[in-house]
Amino acid sequence: MRVSGLALIVLVLGHLFIMNILDGGVHRINFAFVAGRWSSPFWQVWDLLMLWLAELHGANGLRTVINDYARKDGTRFWLKIMLYVSVVLILFLGTYVIFTFDATIPTTH
Ligand code: HEM
Repeated sequence: MRVSGLALIVLVLGHLFIMNILDGGVHRINFAFVAGRWSSPFWQVWDLLMLWLAELHGANGLRTVINDYARKDGTRFWLKIMLYVSVVLILFLGTYVIFTFDATIPTTH
């Protein structure tokens, strides 16, 4: 948790700064902007690391919260099942998008 937390400070604050503050912030974000960033392996690796570390860090933290607060065994069990299913889905979908993103697909605008 501490190592992923330290890495997340750089990854998340860097992400926030670039996407929300630098050079017009969110107003300049569109398909072309994302396509431009993901054409670079550097930003692909950055986003992949941020996805995996935030997901695993957040899910592990939430596991602790569930253990602390769920009173019944059944509640604890099902909350964790939902948590783990969401982790697998989000990690799969996010990783899939980063690796298969195609900047040449037609857009409506
Ligand atoms: C920005 C950088 C971050 C740092 C430095 C950081 C650091 C930490 C640390 C040191 C802990 C305590 C671990 C322990 O109990 O030993 C923790 C817990 C936790 N973190 Fe992070 N974290 C960061 C980002 C995130 C993000 C992005 C999420 C969500 C996706 C998140 C969700 C959690 C949760 C749910 C807990 C458990 C809280 C609890 O036990 O009550 N953290 N974090």
